Amino acid sequence: MSELMAESGDSEKGLKRTLSSASLVALGIGAIIGAGLFVRTAAAAAQNAGPSVTLGFIVAAIGCALAGLCYAELSSSIPISGSAYTYTYATMGEFMAWIIGWDLVLEYAVGAATVGIAWSEYLNNLLVNVLHWKAIPYQWCHSPFEHSVDGINGIMNIPAFGIIALLSLLLIKGTKESAFVNGIIVITKVAIVVLIIIFGWGFINSANHTPYIPQSTTYTDHQGVAHTYGGIMGILGAAGVVFFAFIGFDAVSTAAQETKNPKKSMPIGILGSLAICTVLYILFAHVLTGLAPVEFFRTTGKEASVAQAIETFMPGYSWLGKLVTVAILAGFSSVILVMLLGQSRVFYSMSRDGLVPKVFSDVHPKFKTPYKANLIFLVVVGAFAAFVPGDIVGDMTSIGTLFAFMLVCVAVIILRKTDPDMPRAFKTPLVPFVPILGILVCGAMIFGLGWTNWLRLGGWLLIGFVIYFGYSKRNSLLQKGLIVKPKDPVDPLNPL
Ligand code: ALA
Repeated sequence: MSELMAESGDSEKGLKRTLSSASLVALGIGAIIGAGLFVRTAAAAAQNAGPSVTLGFIVAAIGCALAGLCYAELSSSIPISGSAYTYTYATMGEFMAWIIGWDLVLEYAVGAATVGIAWSEYLNNLLVNVLHWKAIPYQWCHSPFEHSVDGINGIMNIPAFGIIALLSLLLIKGTKESAFVNGIIVITKVAIVVLIIIFGWGFINSANHTPYIPQSTTYTDHQGVAHTYGGIMGILGAAGVVFFAFIGFDAVSTAAQETKNPKKSMPIGILGSLAICTVLYILFAHVLTGLAPVEFFRTTGKEASVAQAIETFMPGYSWLGKLVTVAILAGFSSVILVMLLGQSRVFYSMSRDGLVPKVFSDVHPKFKTPYKANLIFLVVVGAFAAFVPGDIVGDMTSIGTLFAFMLVCVAVIILRKTDPDMPRAFKTPLVPFVPILGILVCGAMIFGLGWTNWLRLGGWLLIGFVIYFGYSKRNSLLQKGLIVKPKDPVDPLNPL
């Protein structure tokens, strides 16, 4: 802990406290509305819960609120603009930090791939329904593990790879997404969600909402994958899937040092942005599942689901479907950018600690960005986007992030015991009750995601252990007794 603080003292004390509660709320909302809402909601309705996907949103929001309060305590007491990786390093040591850093690859890198695949679906919708051109052939916008209802096999998702490559290159250049452009994207995203709720409400067909919680059964999709559908397990599964829609709100907690009055602003920022999004998400999911029957989201409306549902079930509103498509393509791009940036930031820290090779912290002489890391992740994330189905990367992102949230809750409890006197600008209320409840709710969502996803998480962690014991432990600067001091006064990972 003290080494970490000494290190941070050199490089990062200069952050100005300029953010108010309102700007924190805007930051939170801007970071989170994306593929979770516009792609995964329909998937959760089709595969897990039908209309009761709205209840899944409530469970996911509760888990996020509890874990968010824990994130806020850690980020306000460890003044390094960082992530769960840094917090875990300080509280639970190197091995746990490795686990979480490795796990965060699922949140950021695999998450970026998920949004890239969603981007590809809406690009096709843009080509066909907005520009009235031809669709990209099925095989060139799907992974080899998917086939269409007519039996065409996917080969590679080229648009998904393309957008990841393009944004990775942009990141290398360190182009600043201006506050102005970012503001417009946030406003557009919120506006289309609100417009769909308002205009779609009148088209809700109550038959589509009956029964609201479908009876428990198994649904096998046309790829042959079986899903637990309906009942409580359906809701928990849906919660795990749509949890994706909340990922990124933890960005609010990482701004703790730039907040004017963290004690007051952090809970308002975190809980405020969560509350607004939760209300919007529930209303949106209520409208979406009311517009179309579940069968629609399993077939013709499986991809670009929101635009498709508007086109098909809201006669006279095809302009809204077109607007949604264009706005979403821009909105998704900004989410991908933030996730790719987050990924290179975590690996940058891990590389400075010696846990991953030095190439991840090599900084470009001119652009001052970790360009080699960006290039490596271009290839890795691009490969996930090109060759893995969206459902799989989406669920892997959810389960990985849920696991990280649980570790953050554990870290708060441990740090209160091991370092009770450490100054904490913001304190999680009702410790250990809030963190324990956070662990339970996130654990329930992991449970709901089912055994295939547990296996994927287990497999991922296993690969991580092999790398840790094969490479990281031997190269760790902490283990060698070397304390890392920042060499470069510019934070190269914060060019934005
Ligand atoms: N919450 C972000 C999204 O839904 C990651 O795209």
